[in-house]
Amino acid sequence: EKAGYDYFMLKEIAEQPKAVADTLLGRIDAAGSLTLDEVRIGAAELREADKVVIVACGTAFHAGLIAKYAIEHWTRIPCEVELASEFRYRDPILGPRSLVIAISQSGETMDTLMALRHAREQGSKVLAICNTNGSTIPRESDAVLYTHAGPEVAVASTKAFLTQLVACYLVALYLGQVRGTKWADEIRAVIRDLAQISGQVERVLETMEPVRALARSLADKKTVLFLGRHVGYPVALEGALKLKELAYMHAEGFAAGELKHGPIALVEEDLPVVVVVPSPRGRSVLHDKIVSNIQEIRARGARTIVIAEEGDEAVAPYADHLVRIPATPVLLQPLVATVPLQVFACELATARGNEVDQPRNLAKSVTVE
Ligand code: M6R
Repeated sequence: EKAGYDYFMLKEIAEQPKAVADTLLGRIDAAGSLTLDEVRIGAAELREADKVVIVACGTAFHAGLIAKYAIEHWTRIPCEVELASEFRYRDPILGPRSLVIAISQSGETMDTLMALRHAREQGSKVLAICNTNGSTIPRESDAVLYTHAGPEVAVASTKAFLTQLVACYLVALYLGQVRGTKWADEIRAVIRDLAQISGQVERVLETMEPVRALARSLADKKTVLFLGRHVGYPVALEGALKLKELAYMHAEGFAAGELKHGPIALVEEDLPVVVVVPSPRGRSVLHDKIVSNIQEIRARGARTIVIAEEGDEAVAPYADHLVRIPATPVLLQPLVATVPLQVFACELATARGNEVDQPRNLAKSVTVE
């Protein structure tokens, strides 16, 4: 069942190139338009939506945080992302013109289900992004876009996350198509970039041995910090969550710009800090700022583990460990940047003798509120 891998998690990490490709399959026609037939919410309603609200938990929430960047950038519709467990208790402002997106691998997460029920009671339309056919969340939603990751067995989510990101990008583009802010040629260009990601994830997977060795060398550390900016910020949160779940280590993700507002006080001699570096192309201001952050923490003794694009030479002098990822369009970087963090957490868990597929105190689907 594990196809020769020691753990389901390793198998599922390895399946990511295929999972990503499968989630794109058949969703664009010859003319370059997205054909999300499953999205049975009328074009008129999608055109009139005045905001998008994403609800999810855990890793799916991190996918939602990344989706916000894509949705607002490509469609100019305001987008909020909220932890499903907090959502209904604050009496959120919802109505028929709010489009609610519920993201869930299992489709059975009670917090997310209760959030979507609340949204529907307020008259909002709910679109589910889900990996499990016929599960409760898609059944109770107005429409569903399935991710095609295949069954995910390991408690720690990996391939489902990458496919949730792909589905979110598709929804963002589809909204753009329906509302006329994205045209076929632009959509085709992004789809082409997305189609390349599968091979790029494959390349990342082929270069993971140094990351595994690094993880093993950190097995007796107590804390690891993760920093990122823009779409790299949710990637940092996801890296920290993986480490908590699997290695039972204290880990925190921060927006790098927040460092000086407090977290930098945590930095001490030999503290491992993982930094997800934005592309030097595109939003290069952010790149330069993060290079300064790396210098600042290194000057205070941190051991810097830098995840940066191939060809980004500016970071090299300040990286104690440099992990290269292929260059991608800015918004798509999480699809490649997350992979080393998954491998890192998995290997640390193994080195610490933890149960990788079934971490203590956790369940694959959380069916209580
Ligand atoms: O099945 P769901 O996507 O709704 O699950 C949500 C979270 O419980 C889940 O992502 C959890 O955080 C994972 N164990 C993360 O690896």
